[in-house]
Amino acid sequence: MRRAKIALIGGGQIGGVLAQLIAVRQLGDGVLFDIVEDFPQGKTLDIAEASAIDGFDARITGTNSYADIADSDIVIITAGLPRKPGMSRDDLLTTNAKIMKSVAENVAKYAPNSTVIVISNPLDAMVTLFQKVSGFPYNRVIGQAGVLDSSRFATFIAWELGVSVKDINAMTLGGHGDTMVPLTRYANVNGIPVMELLERKYKDAGKAAEVMNAIIERTKMAGGEVVKLLKTGSAFYSPASAAIQMAEAILFDEKRVLPVCAHLNGQFGVEGYYVGVPAIIGKDGVENVVEFSLAEEEKSALDKSVDAVKELVDAMNRLGF
Ligand code: APR
Repeated sequence: MRRAKIALIGGGQIGGVLAQLIAVRQLGDGVLFDIVEDFPQGKTLDIAEASAIDGFDARITGTNSYADIADSDIVIITAGLPRKPGMSRDDLLTTNAKIMKSVAENVAKYAPNSTVIVISNPLDAMVTLFQKVSGFPYNRVIGQAGVLDSSRFATFIAWELGVSVKDINAMTLGGHGDTMVPLTRYANVNGIPVMELLERKYKDAGKAAEVMNAIIERTKMAGGEVVKLLKTGSAFYSPASAAIQMAEAILFDEKRVLPVCAHLNGQFGVEGYYVGVPAIIGKDGVENVVEFSLAEEEKSALDKSVDAVKELVDAMNRLGF
């Protein structure tokens, strides 16, 4: 049986970590594509030269030719420019839309049966554009945002409560921007509501709510916090890990319930837009969107987030993409 083939479009910061994770986890053969000559070849040579140490047989190669992504099972896209300090994800719109258009045309040409995970920002617009240009079925074009946003939310909760992050279940919905909706009511530690634990810790419901609000704000601004500290570029380790979790769910047909940017067709009252929601991820990509009831304020926060996504997509359409 042939090994899975995973193409990475964009060999920058995230692309490099993706390639290394694919190698050390032995997920399949990885092809790292970038437009900069020699750059992806250099990165993958460096990774491959650790194969004797890490003990992997997977072939990790670099290329400047789209022909080398032929017959990929999964394609993960990070091509584009990252944010600079003070820049919003939306500022990236025009530049990255041009890049995404050419990427989508080439992926459609060379890897027409692949399942695609988009990471490039502004995410909700880029995933929409990729699907539109490639003409791929909606279930095979998925955006990565919610897995990372939720991981950030879970991490901050774990730090606050002093418990293992492995025992935290926490999820964010909505767009990958400042309007994302971290779901406090469903956040739990092995089933125990986080809010109850915070109230017991602080013996004061008001203080517990204040602490949770601070966690929510930090989650929403977490990407910007990293950008500000790095000064050159944006987060790259955590987005790569998030996309790998999604890729594993597809490769191993895991049926994981992951928060991803999926195309909605009436679910959560949204028609015809890509929005962050929990979905069953397996060999067919998004196999089902998982709907559940939202409290009034959660629904209105999600509606607000969907409005922001619509604005972004409409702006992209006005720009002629
Ligand atoms: N085709 C392929 N690769 C391209 C193209 C293109 N048309 N244009 C640019 N690239 C490459 C760049 O050469 C660069 O190596 O995309 C890579 C992007 O890498 P980085 O600049 O290091 O950015 P990174 O941190 O990996 O983030 C990539 O993901 O999270 C988002 O906001 C982030 O949009 C950004 C993307």
